[in-house]
Amino acid sequence: MQDDDKRTVVVTGGSRGIGRAICLSFAGPDTRIYFNYFSPVDPDAEKAAADETEKLVADAGGSAKGLSVNVASQEEIIDFFKKVIDETGRIDVLVNNAGITKDGFLVRMKESDWDAVMDINLKGAFRCIKIAARAMMKQRFGRIINLASIVGVTGNAGQANYVASKAGIIGLTKTAAKELASRNVTVNAIAPGFIETDMTESLPDDVKKAMLSQIPLGRAGKPEDIASVIAFLASEKASYITGQVIHVSGGMYI
Ligand code: NAI
Repeated sequence: MQDDDKRTVVVTGGSRGIGRAICLSFAGPDTRIYFNYFSPVDPDAEKAAADETEKLVADAGGSAKGLSVNVASQEEIIDFFKKVIDETGRIDVLVNNAGITKDGFLVRMKESDWDAVMDINLKGAFRCIKIAARAMMKQRFGRIINLASIVGVTGNAGQANYVASKAGIIGLTKTAAKELASRNVTVNAIAPGFIETDMTESLPDDVKKAMLSQIPLGRAGKPEDIASVIAFLASEKASYITGQVIHVSGGMYI
């Protein structure tokens, strides 16, 4: 266990996209970052992306350790957090960012696609919060930030599983905020709009165009637009904010 006053930050899904930008927003000499990642399709590419996140954080003067850990596996999550606590003795910040989509119209949606999205996006966050909250309650300090989505509030045709998981994240955030507030643990959610990452890259051009036309600020968001708000919520400056859903969407939802 380390005996110093560095912060320990845990980010799920830190190999790419918004998760990588979140890791970078915490990079610095006073923070130890642990992130996980997982791909059943191309584990080598995911590992290479994770190595790149570690390198970028190191270049920015920080330290990050990336491990292939599936948030849908209770066993793997227990081992992951055990490692973090064994090595650092604490968890100051948890960002539940890992997420997937498996889109399709409701009437044709396979039960396996519903289950996979709920298990990773919603139950994965529950698994991580449950373990991290115990450490945070003991410390009488903690910051939990969950990635919801604008569609968790508005609904979105073709994404019943994803929308339900993100609406669930909002309910989980509010409940955890109420349960943990007395121990000085805040819990908030970010609802991003349309952000340029691998997740949105695969959308058809006409869908992208339609989404862009709904953004009053006139551009898609960048992962850094989300990461900077997360860094703020994890900071001392946000110590009186809990149970909130902060929309970061260029005004897509007003
Ligand atoms: P991405 O697809 O670029 O990256 C996903 C990350 O999650 C990767 O690091 C991947 O390794 C990890 N991951 C996937 N399945 C995992 C599992 N089973 N266990 C552990 N890690 C896993 O996604 P992006 O766009 O960066 O999204 C990040 C979060 O932001 C997600 O929760 C997403 O739902 C949310 N979001 C994204 C929006 C966007 O426009 N990109 C909009 C609203 C919300």
